[in-house]
Amino acid sequence: MGGKIRIGALISGGGSNLQAIMDACENGMISGEIVFAGSDNPAASGLEKIRSRRIPTFVVDYGSIIKQFKKGPDKAVLPEDFDLDDVLAKQSLFATDSDPEKVRNFLMTRAVAEAKLLEAMEPYTFDLLVLAGFMRNLTPYFIDRINTVPGSLRIMNIHPALLPAFPGIDGYGDTFRYGCKVGGCTVHFVDYGEDSGPIIGQAAYEITADDTIETIRAKGLKLEWSLYSNCVRLFAEGLLQTVRMTHPLKNGRTYERTVVKITLPPKK
Ligand code: GAR
Repeated sequence: MGGKIRIGALISGGGSNLQAIMDACENGMISGEIVFAGSDNPAASGLEKIRSRRIPTFVVDYGSIIKQFKKGPDKAVLPEDFDLDDVLAKQSLFATDSDPEKVRNFLMTRAVAEAKLLEAMEPYTFDLLVLAGFMRNLTPYFIDRINTVPGSLRIMNIHPALLPAFPGIDGYGDTFRYGCKVGGCTVHFVDYGEDSGPIIGQAAYEITADDTIETIRAKGLKLEWSLYSNCVRLFAEGLLQTVRMTHPLKNGRTYERTVVKITLPPKK
């Protein structure tokens, strides 16, 4: 990839990962620039820090959209190009035996919010969208409108656990409560499931007897900053490729998965 890549970001909270990526862009480690930062949460403290760097921000208040939907789902204005059957067929956020009404309501509410996100992002062209502590699941409605080139994924997420262990909203808490002796964080491309997309990078830390949930969170977050910046750097340098792999299993079946291959840069 020649020249600087343009990076959009979505956050929900403190935005320390986005700050690390911004620093890495500013100091030249990543050949890129942040072109906008959006949030689902009007109170996200990271927004102020980003505005102070003169990066445009916007908020799509998911909380009030969800409240509104609960009051009168029939009155919710679904995007014109929303196709419930298509999104239902693609999504893997919910298991097949989930309550169908709950699933439909979730996908419809999110489509209302996601259409507003897409509208707010419309003025910016970007190569990569980073989810930096964005605490909302994205649905196929949104994902398909970002990943428009077949086979080329361009939404990245950081998760505070060593996936595929402990997906969900409290990776560090889950790791600690389980009694793991090693914890970590994972950067992956986003697919139609929850924290299930192809893994780009992982970093691990040791958990000792005197660790608490707070010390684990602090150790993990520090690792996240360098891991995320490094994965964005690999993307900016065009070194990430996704490939479909098929492996034979002992039971005669096969295991298939899309994985990330990292090309090593040529030796100088
Ligand atoms: C980070 O620990 C990130 O891994 C986690 O939220 C925190 C955000 O911190 N993300 C998730 O749990 C996503 N499911 P930050 O706002 O300071 O970057």
